[in-house]
Amino acid sequence: MAILITGGAGYIGSHTCVELLNAGYELVVLDNFSNSKPEVLRRIKEITGKDFTFYESDLLNVDAIESIFSQHDINAVIHFAGYKAVGESVSEPLKYYHNNITGTLNLCDAMSRHGVYDLVFSSSATVYGVPKQVPITEDSPLGATNPYGRTKQMIEEILRDLHVSDNRWSVALLRYFNPIGAHESGKIGEDPNGIPNNLMPYISQVAAGKLEQLNVFGDDYETLDGTGVRDYIHVVDLAKGHLKALESVLLTTGVDAYNLGTGFGHSVLEMVDAFEQASGQKIPFVIKERRPGDVDSCFADTRKANQKLNWAAEKTLTNMCKDAWNWQSNNPTGYTEANDLVTSIQIAP
Ligand code: NAD
Ligand code: UFG
Repeated sequence: MAILITGGAGYIGSHTCVELLNAGYELVVLDNFSNSKPEVLRRIKEITGKDFTFYESDLLNVDAIESIFSQHDINAVIHFAGYKAVGESVSEPLKYYHNNITGTLNLCDAMSRHGVYDLVFSSSATVYGVPKQVPITEDSPLGATNPYGRTKQMIEEILRDLHVSDNRWSVALLRYFNPIGAHESGKIGEDPNGIPNNLMPYISQVAAGKLEQLNVFGDDYETLDGTGVRDYIHVVDLAKGHLKALESVLLTTGVDAYNLGTGFGHSVLEMVDAFEQASGQKIPFVIKERRPGDVDSCFADTRKANQKLNWAAEKTLTNMCKDAWNWQSNNPTGYTEANDLVTSIQIAP
């Protein structure tokens, strides 16, 4: 019996693979490396001392997915694979609808053909759009404001429809808030292509001297210091939430959405301060115009995940910043330098 991890070479997927391997699960991992590097696989094995099967496969390739399900006794799936850049989704919506939605449809088709009905899905707090109130509860109205977010909202609906059609489906919709940080070993972390869009990798690269200064997008929000407030969660806490969600879908049926956050909001300037203290590096910044589409404040009500999944984030803001800096300073060019070290990747089918 194995757990299939789609997008397992990515940022959150790789950290989740480590936690699952440490917990003794057998893994089959697939990724097309559209936003990740093969080197991460070697690092996962190095951290855990455990092996797993990997396929360089695309969820858009129906035959490849079929072949993986035919060759392995899969009993549940954790589905990370998808594109995630909000801005790019606005300029290239078809690319996002096709990859995220068609990819998920192909996966669910293969799952039902092979009698696999247990699924943990990477959704996002972005499905809430402009929050009506904070902290945000799971029953708050949904209203994604960009194509990326709409792919997540649509997939949530598709998975609910699947359960209506066949009540053997058991699905956890995990709505992540803002994952940051890295594994404490400094061997795996976030490795964005080009100039980062998100706050934490941008701050890390300013600290490392790769970028000159941080642009703070707006200081006139309805928040304590005027800068945007978000719920930053350590990626290892998030990964552990997947283990709890997996245990839950294996035991129950139905579709449930869960907020995975800390329940606490921090402003951009608080993040700058926390990072400076954790890293000992100065983060020069300038205040710029608001970024279109950003909201004042977004943080989770985490009581449902606390109670129903028996999960809570444990790591502090200092842990998040120290681990982000440890990853950045040990891997100034991300995974790129070591790509040639990877061996034994299988291509499916
Ligand atoms: P990531 O880009 O690092 O990981 C996604 C992985 O999926 C990548 O390795 C990529 O190569 C792979 N992939 C994409 N399309 C594929 C396809 N068609 N077939 C096979 N592999 C494919 O992203 P992440 O930050 O690890 O996010 C994982 C999931 O969580 C995504 O679905 C993302 O939308 C969601 N999410 C992320 C965040 C965040 O801030 N990082 C927040 C909310 C939700
Ligand atoms: N910010 C800056 N400067 C930057 C980058 C960000 O000031 O260079 C600010 C933003 O304005 C915002 C905060 O930092 O106030 C956080 O921005 P991020 O881009 O890091 O994160 P978002 O909350 O905008 O969005 C992220 C992901 C989305 C996901 C959402 C909720 O990009 O895909 O978290 O999970 F949906």
